[in-house]
Amino acid sequence: MVETDTIPTENPLAIFDDWFAEAQDCEPNDPNAMCLATATPQGCPSARMVLLKGHDERGFVFYTNAKSRKGGEIRANMQAALLFHWKSLRRQIRIEGPLEEVSSAEADAYFHSRPFKSQVGSAASDQSSPLPDRQVYLDQVELLRERYEDAGEVPRPPHWTGFRCQPRAIEFWTDRPNRLHERRRFISDGGGWTSSLLYP
Ligand SMILES: Cc1cc2nc3c(=O)[nH]c(=O)nc-3n(C[C@H](O)[C@H](O)[C@H](O)COP(=O)(O)O)c2cc1C
Repeated sequence: MVETDTIPTENPLAIFDDWFAEAQDCEPNDPNAMCLATATPQGCPSARMVLLKGHDERGFVFYTNAKSRKGGEIRANMQAALLFHWKSLRRQIRIEGPLEEVSSAEADAYFHSRPFKSQVGSAASDQSSPLPDRQVYLDQVELLRERYEDAGEVPRPPHWTGFRCQPRAIEFWTDRPNRLHERRRFISDGGGWTSSLLYP
């Protein structure tokens, strides 16, 4: 039996763009949702979903509260792994690499592109800290809503920021018949990429 590979052998960022565009057409919701894995300096991992809010040749950007659990882990260990799984396409993409914080201009621009109510909700959230009662959060939301209603926007809290994962490895997985799936892993060699197939 002779089969041809379906994952291109060059330019993983272009393959990402193609698969992401297809996911935007197919996924029932949040095609930009990805699992973000971080780890403590002792190597204890943790994972959660975040939304991809930008990507280009510099890397893959998400936004969060830097005082959260993930924020603490990132500050101590600026490395991450990202995972997309698009069920409708039966495809997975894994991305690994160091993180850098986005500029404050970039974080400001994204924060203020969000609806006013989303700005309020995130500014009011002491993300990942224990919440004694949901009403405590709702009261804080109401306080900020009243304070900034006339301005129409909330100042970006300095700890609300973005991080860019600079890809050093990108791996594509796609479903093939009889579970004879196809995997191709790209490794950055500084200027370009090399790739090889992996057993599924
Ligand atoms: C689909 C989805 C998207 C999410 N997007 C984000 C996001 O972009 N940023 C964020 O801080 N949390 C996001 N969350 C919430 C996180 O998964 C997580 O609960 C929160 O960031 C706290 O994580 P931590 O305690 O590990 O810091 C999202 C959750 C889901 C289910």
